Amino acid sequence: MTAYAGDMTSPGRRTANARTQSELDLAALADRCLPAGTFGNIPEPVIISRGAGARVWDESGNEYIDYLLGSGPMLVGHCHPEVTAAISDQLTRGTTFFANNPQGIRLAAAIVDAVPCAEKVRFVCSGTEADFYAMRLARAYRKKDKILKFEGGYHGMSDYSLMSLMPTHDVPFPEPIPDSPGIPDSIQADIAVLPFNDVELMRSFIRANHEELAAVIVEPFQRLIAPQAGFLETLREITAETGVVLIFDEVVTGFRFSYGGAQEYFDVTPDLCTLGKACGGGFPLAAIAGRADIMDLFDRSKVGDDQFLVQLGTLSGNPVAAAAGLATLNVLNQPDVYKNFFATGRRLMDTLGEMLRRADLPAQVLGAEPLFDVIFHRGEIQNYRDTISGDAWLTKTFNRLLRERGLFKGDTKYYVSTALGESEVSQTADAWASAIDALKHAMKSRPADS
Ligand SMILES: Cc1ncc(COP(=O)(O)O)c(C=O)c1O
Repeated sequence: MTAYAGDMTSPGRRTANARTQSELDLAALADRCLPAGTFGNIPEPVIISRGAGARVWDESGNEYIDYLLGSGPMLVGHCHPEVTAAISDQLTRGTTFFANNPQGIRLAAAIVDAVPCAEKVRFVCSGTEADFYAMRLARAYRKKDKILKFEGGYHGMSDYSLMSLMPTHDVPFPEPIPDSPGIPDSIQADIAVLPFNDVELMRSFIRANHEELAAVIVEPFQRLIAPQAGFLETLREITAETGVVLIFDEVVTGFRFSYGGAQEYFDVTPDLCTLGKACGGGFPLAAIAGRADIMDLFDRSKVGDDQFLVQLGTLSGNPVAAAAGLATLNVLNQPDVYKNFFATGRRLMDTLGEMLRRADLPAQVLGAEPLFDVIFHRGEIQNYRDTISGDAWLTKTFNRLLRERGLFKGDTKYYVSTALGESEVSQTADAWASAIDALKHAMKSRPADS
């Protein structure tokens, strides 16, 4: 079992409801300075001040098992000793240079060695940036403007990505719905949207429209939804046949579904992929990776002034971030890491599924071993429209009950970490059992308008 920095100073468990004056003061300060009193990430104003291994502590000292993992990056847990040592070592050598550095070059090589489509790598600082540039790269390569995405697929926060991520009403496919005010109307014309997992519609749309299409961007495992058998394979076949660039958004799945990502896990290799979260080891680092002939558009000496795609960023390839990412990949690349990680995820999913069945709740566990959640809906879930048919009040109430019982998770997902051990798994099962009882009780006095 790995010893994590911070384990020795654990303040011990407290009720997850207790708030100290120091946390209340900080929350008041946040209310004064931050819109909605938050950074915009998780909606609640909980203040997390420390993490170690599979656990985090809030400012009041309440302890939680962490299933948020910083929205995914902390795949090997907080303060993993090897990651901390690599970061500390780099900190004493300088923190940014805006120049090639050994850590960044070695991380690029590790990505090329691991990820099937990755012949070349370009670093950026966030998944949003990586997706934005991957789409621009595909448009420049194809000399065409249109991008096809799938409803409910998340590709960051750019104007191009915030289309039909979480629409609240239906429009006919392939029309997109912008998810935010402030996005120019003109961008809608360059995005087409289809339902995830509809193989026939996807095939006929690409056949009919390939002359306009620069790329298809897809999360190979869309949020919690698995690709139906043949969906990714057909997408690969038809894009290869028509020359449309296939981009896998592996910001979540990269180094999580396997060391080579979802493309290795599903054995389907895209032309380009985007990576983030785990490969930055908890620092702002993400990447575009892919076929050398496409990535060469970033190289003026290869493609000349007219085709050269200018791309740079002050902190791209930052050495501290790269050191953290490289150390994280080294931890993940040890024997049996994924076997054990998947076994933990499977155990958690099965335990929760069985508890929900026994409680006769209208619910199912959706996802895969590295990430999953409960959807309060009994029907089959193949796409975004199926997921929103889930019962939002039950989801919100259950999540609140879990937080009160010491499980820290986002609204839509449990992220599993390799740091989870026996004690966390059994404590999680206890929290689920108690929260399910409390949920059944709460359902009896459910507000009529919820
Ligand atoms: C699939 C996917 N792509 C892109 C992003 C955006 O990444 P970032 O938050 O680093 O901008 C996310 C973030 O959660 C994501 O889940």
